[in-house]
Amino acid sequence: MAAPDLERRSKEEMRLLDLGGHVGFDSLPDQLVSKSVSQGFSFNILCVGETGIGKSTLMNTLFNTIFETEESGHYEACVRLRPRTYDLQESNVHLKLTIVDAVGFGDQINKDERPIVDYIDTQFENYLQEELKIQRSLFDYHDTRIHVCLYFITPTGHSLKSLDLVTMKKLDSKVNIIPIIAKADTISKSELHKFKNKIMNELDKNGVQIYQFPTDDEAVAEINAVMNAHLPFAVVGSTDEVKVGNKLVRARQYPWGIVQVENESHCDFVKLREMLIRVNMEDLREQTHNRHYELYRRHKLEEMGFQDTAAESKPISLQETYETRRKEFLCELQKKEEEMRQMFVNKVKETELELKEKEKELHERFETLKRTHQEEKRKVEEKRRQLEEEKIAFNRRKAAVETMQAQALQVTSQQPLRRDKDKKN
Ligand code: GTP
Ligand code: MG
Repeated sequence: MAAPDLERRSKEEMRLLDLGGHVGFDSLPDQLVSKSVSQGFSFNILCVGETGIGKSTLMNTLFNTIFETEESGHYEACVRLRPRTYDLQESNVHLKLTIVDAVGFGDQINKDERPIVDYIDTQFENYLQEELKIQRSLFDYHDTRIHVCLYFITPTGHSLKSLDLVTMKKLDSKVNIIPIIAKADTISKSELHKFKNKIMNELDKNGVQIYQFPTDDEAVAEINAVMNAHLPFAVVGSTDEVKVGNKLVRARQYPWGIVQVENESHCDFVKLREMLIRVNMEDLREQTHNRHYELYRRHKLEEMGFQDTAAESKPISLQETYETRRKEFLCELQKKEEEMRQMFVNKVKETELELKEKEKELHERFETLKRTHQEEKRKVEEKRRQLEEEKIAFNRRKAAVETMQAQALQVTSQQPLRRDKDKKN
């Protein structure tokens, strides 16, 4: 039976019944609240904005405390993400708050948004890995996924920098972005109005999706719709307290006057706190899980070869996908093995051929050398024989000369005797 038919039938079979008396499942929402409260909540904020734009001051102002912070230098070699986690408690609600600073962003040549994107993805990946474990502990898992990115815009009054547009575009499918104009006390009221419009036009023109406060829940629809029109919020941060009338208020004091952080005619700080913490914190957490994380998870699982439906929209189970992938992997492995074996055989053959060639060469050289050597030897033999003959001839001549010399000596020695004899006669 086709899936829509099944759905229709099950709807037809479901009948509305009246209860005879109080059963008690109307306490479910209370049970849910009490369970969530005892479990505690986690909320993770990513602050992106150039060094010294007022990120830490705003965090301190928002949560009315002093978080440990260290100033960043303007000469960081690259953009570095610095997460700090704090346990906060208000009434009986525990909040595990993580503030992540994108240190060095926008400085010098640090125009690269990749470390920020990678950080967000790593938190999604960690969660996915926990989900995929056989023994999951999602209940006490410290969820570090970024729920909101507060993007601090420099109050130039001009237009957005291209770095801001590029970065927000890269982040908008991964995180809920709330753009804010920082240090809004440094820009005049009329300029601010124009600046806000310009920013929203530019974001719209470049297709940057910023977080929209939800208007589907009746209880908050009205306020959220009004607040959406005020984006981007122009905020002022300060933890200094100044006496105004007979009240101490957080403000920035200047020689010409006081800028009150929580005065809505001075800046949008209250609007931001209302929207971020008091009204939409849970929606930001939900959007992170249902939209951004879901997108990451889907891409990741598709990348791994998983799919919900096969050809002809037939549902395909995880087990089937796993088996198919396993078979594909084994086939691929076998193919690779065969390729490597063939490569090895070819290599051996090539080497064998080369060796044979070398052996032949050597043999030829040996033969040539042998022939040369024999030729030399023959020449030397010939020379020796000639010398031998010359030696014999020489000795013969020498002997003849010696005989002749001896005879001549004998003749010369007999001649005086004959002369003496002749004289006597
Ligand atoms: P790094 O963490 O070093 O990047 O700086 P940061 O962005 O955290 O800025 P931080 O909060 O340390 O503030 C830097 C300076 O700006 C301090 O002197 C603050 O007093 C000042 N500052 C912060 N917020 C505001 C503001 O709303 N208006 C004005 N005029 N100055 C502000
Ligand atoms: Mg700081």
